[in-house]
Parts: sequence; C-alpha cells; structure tokens
Amino acid sequence: MRKLEDLQSLIASSVDKLKYPEYPAELYEPIKYILALGGKRMRPALLLMACDLFGGDVEAALPPALAIEVFHNFTLMHDDIMDNAPKRRGKTTVHEKWNNNVAILSGDVMLIEGYKLMMQVRDNLLRKVLDIFNDTAIGVCEGQQLDMTFETSNNITIKEYINMIRLKTAVVLGGALKIGALIGEADEKDANLLSEFGINLGIAFQLQDDILDVYGNPEKFGKQVGGDIISNKKTYLLIKALELVKDTNAEKLARWITFPTFDAPEKVKAVTEIYNSVNIRQFAEAEMQAYAEKAFEALDQITLPEENKQYLRDFADGLLVREY
Ligand code: IPE
Ligand code: IPE
Ligand code: MG
Ligand code: MG
Ligand code: MG
Repeated sequence: MRKLEDLQSLIASSVDKLKYPEYPAELYEPIKYILALGGKRMRPALLLMACDLFGGDVEAALPPALAIEVFHNFTLMHDDIMDNAPKRRGKTTVHEKWNNNVAILSGDVMLIEGYKLMMQVRDNLLRKVLDIFNDTAIGVCEGQQLDMTFETSNNITIKEYINMIRLKTAVVLGGALKIGALIGEADEKDANLLSEFGINLGIAFQLQDDILDVYGNPEKFGKQVGGDIISNKKTYLLIKALELVKDTNAEKLARWITFPTFDAPEKVKAVTEIYNSVNIRQFAEAEMQAYAEKAFEALDQITLPEENKQYLRDFADGLLVREY
C-alpha cells in the first residue's frame, strides 16, 4: 500500500500540471483559480486508494482520479451560484469574482475536461467507467435540484433529506471508489461493496458538512458560516429542529423560515440558538456516526486483508473529525 501522503502529493502535483489555454481568459482563468484553491482532494484520493487496495496500477488510475476532482470543482462552481455563496476555500467564489455567466460556462468546460480525463482509462474499461461516471453526474444533478426544491418546502422528512444528500454528494464518493476498484481489477462484488462503503461515508460526510455550516470556525471552514440557515436548506439540523422544538421556539423558527426579508446575521444567530435549545448538534452527530457505521459494515464484507481495510477506516475517521 502506498502512503496516503504520497498519494496526496501525487494528486497535488498532477493537478498543478493540468494545462488550460490562455484565451479566452474569462473562460479559463476561473478554472485555474478554483483548482489552485486546493481543497481536501479526497475524491481522487479515494479513487487511487481503491485501486491500490486491490493491487492495481496507481499511475493508470491517475487520469480518472483527476477527472473526479475536476468534475467535483465544476459542481462547486455551479453550486456556489445556486447557493448564492460568497466564499469557497477561504476565497471569493467564481461567480462573485467574475459573474454568473462566467461561472456557468467555465463550469461547463470543467465538466467536459473531466470527461476528457476519464476517457484516458484503458480501452477495456472505458464503457464501464463512463457508465458509472454518467450515473454519478446525473445523480448529482438530481440531488442538487432536490436540495433547491426543498428550500421552499417545510414538510421534508429525514428520509427525503438522506436521499437528497445521497444523490448530491454520496454517489460521487461511491463512484470514485468503484472506478478505482475496477481499475485495480477488483471483482464486481467487491467493487459494489466498496461503492456502498463510499455512499454511506458520503452521507456521513455531508451530515458533517451541514453541522460545520452552523458550528464551523469561519476561518478554518473557508465558507460562509450560516449559509444553510440563510437559505432555509432542509438539512438534518433544520428538519430535526422543526420536529423537536415546542411552544415559543417553534413559533419563532416557523417565522424565521417564512420571512421573505431579514437581517442575515440576526437570522443565523436566532436559528442557531433555537438549534442549541434542543441539542441539535448531538442528534446530527449521532446520525453521522450511524452512517459511518453502515460504511464500515460494507467494508467488513470485502475480501481484502485486514490491514488494507484499516487504511480506509483511518481515512474515513479522519474525514469525519475535520473542521473544513
Ligand atoms: C464540498 O466538498 C461539497 C460537499 C459535498 C460538502 P469538499 O468538502 O470535499 O470540498 P473541498 O474540495 O475539500 O473544498
Ligand atoms: C454541495 O452541497 C454538493 C455539491 C457540490 C454537489 P453544499 O452546497 O452543502 O456544499 P458546500 O457546503 O457549498 O460546499
Ligand atoms: Mg448546495
Ligand atoms: Mg453550497
Ligand atoms: Mg454545505
């Protein structure tokens, strides 16, 4: 097994080597900008780890790993328009630094650049890998639409929320791991189990993201804290709070999510206080742990040496205690 730090530095140097034209500058500058902001780059790391776990050729898995990261950055560029987000990775978002049209079109190019990288997989895997990539990309669009549709609906269930985050976030982790496993010549059963591990880990990961959106340290988090509260995102925290709060807090919360105009910091503060009054953070963390457990159960069933699986467990544990 290659050391995680080695995989990460391989990813970093390969992302740095990606080249885009100079002209038109407004099309390509934002791509260079967002990729240079880095991020955790955990999706390409998962893809490479999956390949390595089964004894595959990590170099051969590198273009698909970069494909997943470029694709992920495309989804972020468009997500920030949809979420009206001012900050990404501690810096101004692309649509704010340039404008919406620039972010739309640069994002489109990134999606296609992602496909070009994915197509560098060896011929006998091409159709299979593109099938997975297509399903993943469609899943993200479905999840993102649900995420927005839910903003204006006040009777979303936890089940609907989990399905929405499975689509917008978790399928990408599952897809990355499955593609890596196939390049590493895992059999279909193990590749599917690894995908199931990724999907449950992805659900836990998005729960953590939703917790950090309220409770993160703004410096470390790199995104606007309270963004989900401002836009009435039906996160686990809000859905559970709507279920638990009583009396005046219930009325207050209902009012905050129906006001068409409000002072944003005031709303974030008020809603966070309501969350705290019913210990929402603990509930959300318990839910996150439950999905982490499900992920580890899938991992347990894979036919791999225990030490290889431990490697993935450690990586997953690290992700779920992150602060950004
Ligand atoms: C952000 O993903 C979008 C979510 C699915 C929560 P990451 O938290 O992986 O973002 P970066 O790439 O590390 O910045
Ligand atoms: C984003 O969910 C999922 C995708 C990018 C597809 P969020 O909207 O919560 O992600 P952040 O918090 O902006 O990174
Ligand atoms: Mg979003
Ligand atoms: Mg967002
Ligand atoms: Mg978020």
